[in-house]
Amino acid sequence: MNQRISETDRERIAQRDAALAARPKLELHLHLEGAAPPDFIRAQAKRKKTDLSRIFDDRGAYAYRDFTDFLRIYEAACTVLTTPQDFHDLTLAVLEQSAAQGVVYSETFLSPDFCGGGDVIAWRDYLAAIEAAATQAQRDFGITLRGCITCIRHFGPQQARQIARCAQATAGPFVTGFGIAGDEGQFHPSDFTYPFDAAREAGLGLTAHAGEWGGPDSVRAALDYLRPSRIGHGVRAIEDPRLVDKLAEAGVVLEVCPGSNIALGLYPAHSRHPIDKLRRAGVPVTVSTDDPPFFHTTMTREYIQLAQSFGWEEDIFAQIAQTALDAAFCDAQTRSDIAKKLETTP
Ligand code: HPA
Ligand code: ZN
Repeated sequence: MNQRISETDRERIAQRDAALAARPKLELHLHLEGAAPPDFIRAQAKRKKTDLSRIFDDRGAYAYRDFTDFLRIYEAACTVLTTPQDFHDLTLAVLEQSAAQGVVYSETFLSPDFCGGGDVIAWRDYLAAIEAAATQAQRDFGITLRGCITCIRHFGPQQARQIARCAQATAGPFVTGFGIAGDEGQFHPSDFTYPFDAAREAGLGLTAHAGEWGGPDSVRAALDYLRPSRIGHGVRAIEDPRLVDKLAEAGVVLEVCPGSNIALGLYPAHSRHPIDKLRRAGVPVTVSTDDPPFFHTTMTREYIQLAQSFGWEEDIFAQIAQTALDAAFCDAQTRSDIAKKLETTP
């Protein structure tokens, strides 16, 4: 197959990929702990004398069998992130990694559950450490971070209320959003109206994971009960044309993470992923990596796969960036600063 690619084509592809790598990107859906490089977690485990060898395969990558197992391995990795300093170092490592992918604006899910168990006083300390790292990364790598506090569905509604208290207590220029992640098969969106109402009252932007492991009904329920402006994943809306129309009409933005869906077995390849169909149907879509080392992906890799699979050209990537900018949970000054960075796209 490769032999049939001419020298000129090879050059054209290399040029396209280099342009995609250099393109300034916005990422709206990244879990801070899920972005931890395996080496980082291994080093923490060694320092804390914790045996985490079971969560890695023989090449040193994270190893999991399916979605439930992924969540279990994810939570096991988090057990060696125990201090504000750990989260400072993690944030810096993750932002350096993102900046190397051309990301200029990152909205990252922060989980008070893993930062002091949801205690508001402890959370303030962890957040201060994360924010200090963000300030350093802005200076050193030119990347802007905003935090989206996330509760974890399978930890239950009671704990989600506590996470909403953390969000209320720290809402401001840095903590700008609130969301829900975790196992979509557990509980129901109606169980989480209180934390979402509290976060909305605190002025936070809202997003909810849905339509990843759940089908269209899960997306509908998240929209009805939680009233988010964005949905994390949401891709299984494609199974219901009326829901697709509803998302398009209401302008609900999907944080689509194709590589994550493929690694977890939802779709066999980028070329079979519904992102392009959703986009063509008028649904505002954005592109993110979710938990990049878990899914062996990066922002540049996602862009290249989308260009290869759907023939996306510069205009579509520009549209994706504009959609993300419009949907970002940030203040007007930040939005205008990021818009200027997009204008410098090579
Ligand atoms: N889905 C649900 N929960 C998660 C994910 C995801 O993709 N990543 C980290 N927590
Ligand atoms: Zn996610």
